[in-house]
Amino acid sequence: MDLAILVRITMALALVLTARAAIVLNLIPSGSAVQALATAPLPKAKAARTDYVGDNTCRSCHQEKVETFHNTAHFLTSRLPDRDSILGSFSPGANVLKTSNPALFYRMEATSKGFFQTAVEGRPPDATSHAERFDFVIGSGTKGQTYLFWQGSRLFELPVSYWTDIGWVNSPGYEDGFPDFSRPIVPRCLECHATYFEAIPPVSNRYDKTNIVLGITCEKCHGPGRRHVLVHSSKSVAHSGQDMQSPLQWPREPQLDLCAWCHAGAGQTILPAFSYVPGQPLAKYIDLPPSSSDAHVDVHGSQVELLEKSRCFQSSDMTCTTCHDVHKPQRDLAAFSKRCLTCHAPASCGKFATLKDTITQNCIDCHMPRQQTNLILFDQKGAKARPRMRNHWIKVYAESATR
Ligand code: HEC
Ligand code: HEC
Ligand code: HEC
Ligand code: HEC
Ligand code: HEC
Ligand code: HEC
Ligand code: HEC
Repeated sequence: MDLAILVRITMALALVLTARAAIVLNLIPSGSAVQALATAPLPKAKAARTDYVGDNTCRSCHQEKVETFHNTAHFLTSRLPDRDSILGSFSPGANVLKTSNPALFYRMEATSKGFFQTAVEGRPPDATSHAERFDFVIGSGTKGQTYLFWQGSRLFELPVSYWTDIGWVNSPGYEDGFPDFSRPIVPRCLECHATYFEAIPPVSNRYDKTNIVLGITCEKCHGPGRRHVLVHSSKSVAHSGQDMQSPLQWPREPQLDLCAWCHAGAGQTILPAFSYVPGQPLAKYIDLPPSSSDAHVDVHGSQVELLEKSRCFQSSDMTCTTCHDVHKPQRDLAAFSKRCLTCHAPASCGKFATLKDTITQNCIDCHMPRQQTNLILFDQKGAKARPRMRNHWIKVYAESATR
């Protein structure tokens, strides 16, 4: 995200040539994939916005899924600002961010007109200020949040973000002490963090305010639901099966592509953001850095590349949903460890001899440790914070790497 994404965008530019080679490879499905493609028709490549019906329509028949899903980081990843969605504090004292520049601080205020972020420069009586409103909240807050504001029909990033472990911070990649209200929000950012924004080209950050769907919703992953709802609402329900598929019915490649859309780095867009429909080959839409490259893959936002390096992945038909159920929040490491045990016996672990069954409570922290990324997330009064991420390269780590 953010700095990470910026870095990736630059890297992606440099990698365009190598990535093209990867696309050619990706387009040749393996033998079994060809067979599966022949039997299971994949969703159509194009979808009209009018074919999307929204989560409330799914609720009438999939109530439990909608309710648990609405507590997940995916659904909460973009919201309108309110007292609940903005996690930073507006209480006097806690609503100020000082910077390393003695002549600059930021103030966060909740007023009857909305929530505002103000950069105050200089000293009274000569202080000047620049205030903008919080118009969107990006980030569930599991780790942090960034805020966006409108200027006419153009979207920009606010210079102060919120990091859950710290509080108000300079936005990722912003230089401490320099107020910057000019960073445009490009469609690819919103493609990963929202269901839909209608971009108005050619300006990279202009959007139609009347055509926005916040949060990642059911149809972002399942494709447009209108036909499925019509079929199942009619009395003559013969289960159609072609109007809406579980991704589990797709071959492995499109299943991974669905998650890679947002979990394999920003890449370089080939077709406009928001045109990808799950089930299609992602490589036609986005150039992603080739996963086979030996270049160091950072643990931030690169779960697909890292998992693909694992022997578990290479020697089985594992996908992301082998461990993740995206329809509900998952935090329990013992439950995740049960997923490991569907393929491994506890005794196959070298630690079993000494630690016995206690290892079954948590395979994760030893074999998928949380590690600091190499990317500087934000610069705060000289202290540079780096986020810690779960490494999806499943393997044996030196003990020092797992602390
Ligand atoms: C009128 C009732 C109804 C509505 C509304 C509805 N569904 Fe379904 N859905 C069903 C039934 C019935 C099935 C088949 C039984 C099952 O697998 O649960 C199904 C199955 C599914 C499947 C699995 C398909 C498979 O082959 O396993 C998905 C995915 C799905 N629905 C998504 C959605 C989404 C997304 C929405 C909202 C856009 C939605 N449904 C709205 C009734 C409905
Ligand atoms: C449209 C983009 C998008 C797609 C598609 C997507 N994700 Fe995500 N995912 C995100 C974003 C953005 C976040 C971070 C949300 C936040 O915390 O604000 C996230 C977070 C997560 C998390 C962390 C959840 C938590 O509670 O912190 C998991 C696990 C995850 N995704 C798995 C998956 C899997 C598995 C798939 C494929 C089935 C998938 N995602 C598809 C964008 C996406
Ligand atoms: C981040 C992508 C993503 C989102 C968002 C998402 N799903 Fe799914 N869904 C999947 C994947 C992947 C599978 C297949 C693996 C599985 O069953 O977990 C699936 C399977 C299903 C199934 C069939 C399997 C079952 O458990 O019955 C239904 C029904 C379904 N989803 C409904 C929904 C509904 C309703 C929503 C919104 C509340 C939703 N999904 C949101 C990715 C997603
Ligand atoms: C390629 C998809 C992608 C793009 C582009 C992207 N992000 Fe993210 N972002 C993610 C994913 C995935 C996560 C979850 C962290 C992870 O697993 O790497 C995330 C995490 C975040 C978080 C922390 C959420 C939390 O609480 O954990 C924030 C804030 C955020 N992104 C903001 C942004 C902003 C602002 C932009 C655009 C300027 C952006 N991101 C661009 C995919 C993306
Ligand atoms: C879908 C089946 C499957 C799942 C689930 C699975 N693995 Fe594996 N794993 C494998 C296979 C197959 C191998 C390769 C065995 C071989 O080549 O001898 C492997 C290899 C490994 C290795 C050796 C890696 C190396 O580089 O030498 C470790 C460690 C491991 N798995 C741990 C785990 C842990 C921990 C989990 C859960 C987080 C897990 N596995 C989940 C199938 C799986
Ligand atoms: C072998 C099991 C396994 C597989 C396969 C797997 N994950 Fe995870 N994933 C985990 C575990 C365990 C966590 C840590 C959960 C926690 O700490 O609360 C996790 C956490 C995450 C997070 C949160 C990131 C963080 O640093 O906290 C994201 C995002 C995610 N997974 C995405 C994916 C995607 C995308 C795929 C497919 C490429 C995938 N995962 C495949 C086990 C798995
Ligand atoms: C305390 C840390 C720790 C825990 C907990 C742990 N492991 Fe391990 N595991 C290791 C280490 C270290 C090795 C390397 C073997 C050795 O030198 O003892 C290993 C080896 C393995 C291997 C063999 C890798 C190879 O070289 O083929 C597998 C498979 C494995 N573990 C799976 C698991 C599973 C599954 C769990 C959870 C049930 C688990 N481990 C829990 C530390 C751990």
